[in-house]
Amino acid sequence: MKLTLSSGNPLEHKCSVLVAGCFEKNLEAPFIAPFDQAFGGWLGSLSETGEFTGKLNKCVMIHTLGRVAPDRLLLVGLGKKGKLTGERMRQAAGSAVQVLRKAGLKNGVSILHMAGGELPDLLRAEMEGYLLGGYSFDHYKTDPDISGGVEELTILVNQGAEKTSENIVSETVMLCESVIIARELVDQPANVATPSFLAEKAVEVAGRYGLECRVMEGEEMEQNGMAALLAVAKGSCQPPRFIILEHRGGKEKDKPIVLVGKGVTFDSGGISLKPGKGMEMMKDDMAGGAAVIGTLTAAARMKIPVNLVGLIPAVENLPDGRAYKPGDLVKSMSGKTIEIVNTDAEGRMILCDALHYAQRYKPAALIDLATLTGACVVALGSFATGLMSNDDGLAKVLKKAGEASGERLWELPLWEEYGELMKSDIADMKNAGGPEAGTISAAWFLKQFVGKTRWAHLDIAGTAWEEKGRPYLPKGATGIGVRLLVEYLQGIVAGKTA
Ligand code: BES
Ligand code: ZN
Ligand code: ZN
Repeated sequence: MKLTLSSGNPLEHKCSVLVAGCFEKNLEAPFIAPFDQAFGGWLGSLSETGEFTGKLNKCVMIHTLGRVAPDRLLLVGLGKKGKLTGERMRQAAGSAVQVLRKAGLKNGVSILHMAGGELPDLLRAEMEGYLLGGYSFDHYKTDPDISGGVEELTILVNQGAEKTSENIVSETVMLCESVIIARELVDQPANVATPSFLAEKAVEVAGRYGLECRVMEGEEMEQNGMAALLAVAKGSCQPPRFIILEHRGGKEKDKPIVLVGKGVTFDSGGISLKPGKGMEMMKDDMAGGAAVIGTLTAAARMKIPVNLVGLIPAVENLPDGRAYKPGDLVKSMSGKTIEIVNTDAEGRMILCDALHYAQRYKPAALIDLATLTGACVVALGSFATGLMSNDDGLAKVLKKAGEASGERLWELPLWEEYGELMKSDIADMKNAGGPEAGTISAAWFLKQFVGKTRWAHLDIAGTAWEEKGRPYLPKGATGIGVRLLVEYLQGIVAGKTA
């Protein structure tokens, strides 16, 4: 979708549809009054009959029959006046673009942000809502009637504000296109998105946007002693890959932020096979890796002045004659020994070697993203990502970035006592605890491999995939993590963080 800027009187702007926001109850919105007059006060009646009351995300489309220049008016509820936030604006725009899409409209003009007085943050949120809400994954639909969705939206700003708003457009487009890179990778079926496919994509975006990229293959992983990662890979014919992406936006001596993303391109559970029902969903088990590729892309395109490293261990977890088994003993790259009790706890196996490997960069902060535990879905559902950290300061800034981006985090404790759940009789630890505190015991396991590095773990099991569809999160992959991490990195640049 293309976003363009224009200015002028909305009443006189010829277009197929004008999108305007209204606040709840009296549908108060100053720029709406002239429309109301042109129609002899219909807005009041709309709200009286309850057809449209301005409730957040509710929409109504009206044909204007030539009374004003736009052919149609799409009124979008913004909720209560005085409660308008960036998140609400994102949702309103997302709701609007989905209505346009369903109506088969290819383009439109928007004045949604004007309800909030054209603040840059609201303008940005509106654009995000449109770009993210308008996404759909239909590469494999062969029916030519399936529309490509909304093609162009024009944002109408005040006269003279076009120049200053141009920056906001280009930044938001770069950010949202990076989110969409992540979504596309996750939405791809697992017979397409294999570990080598992920690596090829990483090489491709690196070439396009000026990132450094190196891909390690099995032999080099072996030389590095990455036996935990390789143990998981053994059950699949698809060879593993270890993807290293680098963005050198900061000063030479600046320590990098290192991001690690779980890249299990399909998780059948392995020998500890998952039940068949819903197993197809496990193609999203590389959403952490996709988020890392998306974030590095955004950082490069937006020229964020930080040094950033992305590490993605990529494997497929399948049962096979060569597969690792419950009861096996694995010696990780760090030297710590692991007793396998469940081959479905594979994410931590690949992450533990990647987190250990990350130490060589002497990271200023180390953040991993992983669809790690079903327990996190039970605890937080799809409305928050689980956060666990060994550093309160890092946890705090990440939570703030979560609020600002709309990708919210909820912290769980990571007390030493949880290690009790992971004790093994024959090794330093087991790879899975019991049914209690599954999200925390997984994080405790990862913590054993980060040394003294400031580290945060984000369990995105519940947030990587949207089941029903929300205003700016259409059904399918959400691209979770990219907007959060870009917000976090921008916070560092603005000097807000330690
Ligand atoms: N990829 C899954 C976690 C998952 C489950 C993500 C459901 C999204 C939805 C992970 O590899 C896994 O299977 N974890 C196990 C761990 C257990 C064996 C300790 C789980 O959560 O059941
Ligand atoms: Zn698993
Ligand atoms: Zn998994």
